[in-house]
Amino acid sequence: MKYAILLALVLVGCGRAVPERKRVTVTGALGLPPLEMPEAGAAEVALGKRLFFDPKLSADGRVACASCHDPRHGFADPKPVSEGVGGRRGRRNAPTVLNAAYWRTQFWDGRAPSLEQQARGPITNELEMAHEPAKLMAKLKADGEYVQAFGGREITMEALVEAIAAYERTLLSGNSAADRYLYGGDKTALSEEAILGLKVFRQHCVSCHMIGREHGLFTDHEFHNIGIGVNAVGELTDLGQSKGRFRTPSLRNVARTAPYMHDGSLKTLRQVVDYYVGGGNSNPHLDARIRPLALSGAERAGLVAFLESLNGEMPQ
Ligand code: HEC
Ligand code: HEC
Repeated sequence: MKYAILLALVLVGCGRAVPERKRVTVTGALGLPPLEMPEAGAAEVALGKRLFFDPKLSADGRVACASCHDPRHGFADPKPVSEGVGGRRGRRNAPTVLNAAYWRTQFWDGRAPSLEQQARGPITNELEMAHEPAKLMAKLKADGEYVQAFGGREITMEALVEAIAAYERTLLSGNSAADRYLYGGDKTALSEEAILGLKVFRQHCVSCHMIGREHGLFTDHEFHNIGIGVNAVGELTDLGQSKGRFRTPSLRNVARTAPYMHDGSLKTLRQVVDYYVGGGNSNPHLDARIRPLALSGAERAGLVAFLESLNGEMPQ
């Protein structure tokens, strides 16, 4: 009986510890749709930024979120697969966190439903930051600057991931040359070459990398098998969400975030275009839309030029 009451109290307590935040909608830059998000103050965003760049979050004190999501590389990793503590290697390429606030699910396979849930992953992942939450909390509680930065809020994993997510929600990037052309009425924003590329893109790419009428995220938020990660005998090396399907990545800022695909196997945008022209690697689950494309040299170059026009303004 005593235990039952205690349990009930604990449950009520947990319910209260995570009060529902007010939701606010921000209007993004040109080309970005309005974004609804939990409200966060400037102090919490600043704390999140400090945490994002702090290697203290890892067990050996050497790996920060920003080590693999490097602002100098469009908040992605120039290595095909990332290295965590002690140089341990994962098997996937780190995607950009720019505009990640828009994704309905996080990770290539969509296994995290929110940025908050996502942030817990790398901190404890053995191949990434390999930290035990209890030890990390003790480390932060012993640090006067963090005690102050948490602003009176108790230092918990909950508070930590909420701050990181609040910072990530400020990493929005729009107003690219393509946005000015498509949504800003500026017909001089794209070169002739890129305009040809846009035409080809509308024919062969938008069914997955969607472009809206008033804004575009260049993704359908869905998962597809386009034949990446197929070994010499035609077997899938990573099943992704299932059957070798991975989330359609947004192509915003793509020229900043080489190499490409979930395994970082394609080094340049030219290689990506050639990959699609070749019809992908055959495997039992290949999406029917991935088939050889008859594109001229000018059309291929145009596609690359269009992809290069998707670099947006970098957040401060
Ligand atoms: C050792 C390298 C490494 C570190 C450190 C790291 N990440 Fe990542 N991150 C990755 C990789 C690799 C993926 C993709 C993994 C997958 O999809 O299975 C990823 C995925 C993500 C995504 C999903 C983006 C999307 O488009 O789905 C977000 C958001 C993210 N990381 C934020 C963070 C935050 C916040 C931290 C720090 C708490 C962090 N990462 C630390 C390598 C890293
Ligand atoms: C059937 C849906 C689909 C179509 C059609 C499609 N893509 Fe993709 N695209 C994807 C998926 C899914 C991935 C990630 C695949 C993976 O990593 O396994 C991807 C990845 C990419 C990437 C790499 C992005 C990154 O951050 O690594 C680029 C660039 C790209 N596509 C451009 C194009 C272009 C150009 C076309 C048209 C010629 C096109 N895509 C057609 C679904 C599609």
